[in-house]
Amino acid sequence: MPKLKVITFGCQANELDSARIAGLLTGQGYLLTEDEAEADLIILNGCSIREKAEQKLYSRLGSLRALKGRRPDLRLGVAGCLGQREGEHLLKRFPYLDLVVGNGEHLAEIPRFLSLRQPAAATAEPTGLFPEEAEPARDSQCRAWVGIMEGCDNFCSFCVVPYTRGRERSRHPDDILREVRSLRDRGYREITLLGQTVNSYGCKFDPPAPFAELLRRIDAVVSPGMRVRFTTSHPKDVTPDLACAMVELPSLCEHIHLPVQAGSSRTLARMARGYTRETYLEKIALLRAAVPDLAITTDIIVGFPGESETDFAETLSLMQAVRFDGCFAFKFSPRSGTPAAELPDQVQEPDKATRLSRVLALQDEISLQRNQAIVGRVVEVLADQGLRKRATGLAAGRTRENKIVHFSGGAVEEGNLVKVEIMQARPHHLKGVLIASS
Ligand code: 5AD
Ligand code: SF4
Repeated sequence: MPKLKVITFGCQANELDSARIAGLLTGQGYLLTEDEAEADLIILNGCSIREKAEQKLYSRLGSLRALKGRRPDLRLGVAGCLGQREGEHLLKRFPYLDLVVGNGEHLAEIPRFLSLRQPAAATAEPTGLFPEEAEPARDSQCRAWVGIMEGCDNFCSFCVVPYTRGRERSRHPDDILREVRSLRDRGYREITLLGQTVNSYGCKFDPPAPFAELLRRIDAVVSPGMRVRFTTSHPKDVTPDLACAMVELPSLCEHIHLPVQAGSSRTLARMARGYTRETYLEKIALLRAAVPDLAITTDIIVGFPGESETDFAETLSLMQAVRFDGCFAFKFSPRSGTPAAELPDQVQEPDKATRLSRVLALQDEISLQRNQAIVGRVVEVLADQGLRKRATGLAAGRTRENKIVHFSGGAVEEGNLVKVEIMQARPHHLKGVLIASS
């Protein structure tokens, strides 16, 4: 049987797409392999949100050229946001590529392209969803991503996603519930609902089917102890109804990822984010009033065009005001075709680098303090083999707040829900001792 390796460069949405590609092709007789030397087909599934993400994929593609030189029957493909953006250009730039596909329904074109036996590209704007019948090939036996919506209509001025993933569209709730029930029946312990702005789910349906309603329906079908998460949320779509759902629904974890991007309202307006510093803080207050122990993580961009030192100081002060549990920080990366790439007053690289390290240092300090507040508490941890510390033999998992815990005190298996007493805090994880297996 032919062997397939899918290599992912990017976010969770890309990971899910890779699992979909793998599911589709294993359904057509491919076997998955980790070893690229024995693969008959290698698909690089890549992100194009920042230049760095693209560069990583290009350099891997360059290194695969030699492998293809030795084994001319090896077939190479590029999929995902990068394929969507670059399309046929990639076939010209890398003549040893066999296929290029974009997102959404284009992923399902891969088998047909393989049968053509000549290079092909499919990258018209995606409008559909990945076909329901292809089950993603999930690598974890206990945690699963479930796609609930695709694309984005927000057109933040720095972002390529509305161009690479197309307009916002939501999956039918019955299809989502069917997938959730099937995951429950197969023993999955945690489900993460995935989309670019999950909390605007269903707003285009007639009549609209609000996200909080979907959460209620999911909570009603999962088994006791199962966890439900969702990512990514947009601040403008945080509603009192969502806050209520977070209080009411036992399955919903006490964590939200709510990208703020910047702390200055002037910058936020130029980013076209649809909220100000003040309205973002109001959303945080709404969520914290509902769930006082809510863990909140965020994304921050430093060095957006025209960001002055004063604007940047507002990002730092917002971080101090909110006290996020964690933050992904990025240097602004101009992406061709987006309005922000054309803005005057691009910030110089050294200033971006300094701002990035100031954000990271401040966040480490705050994360450590937030984690220290958990020391002495007993928390529920879902064991996750992928996080295990092989060197020290420590087991690992995540709390409901999505914090990583390394712990001693006994062997656990992937998917076990255990109680751990937290003994020490670090900025990016907690250390503890196993109290009980449940
Ligand atoms: N430059 C830097 N960071 C970006 N992001 C999106 N586009 C860009 C860009 N052009 C970041 C945002 C987003 C995260 C997924 O990536 O912070 O929330
Ligand atoms: Fe990009 Fe903005 Fe849409 Fe997020 S909300 S995917 S940053 S355009």
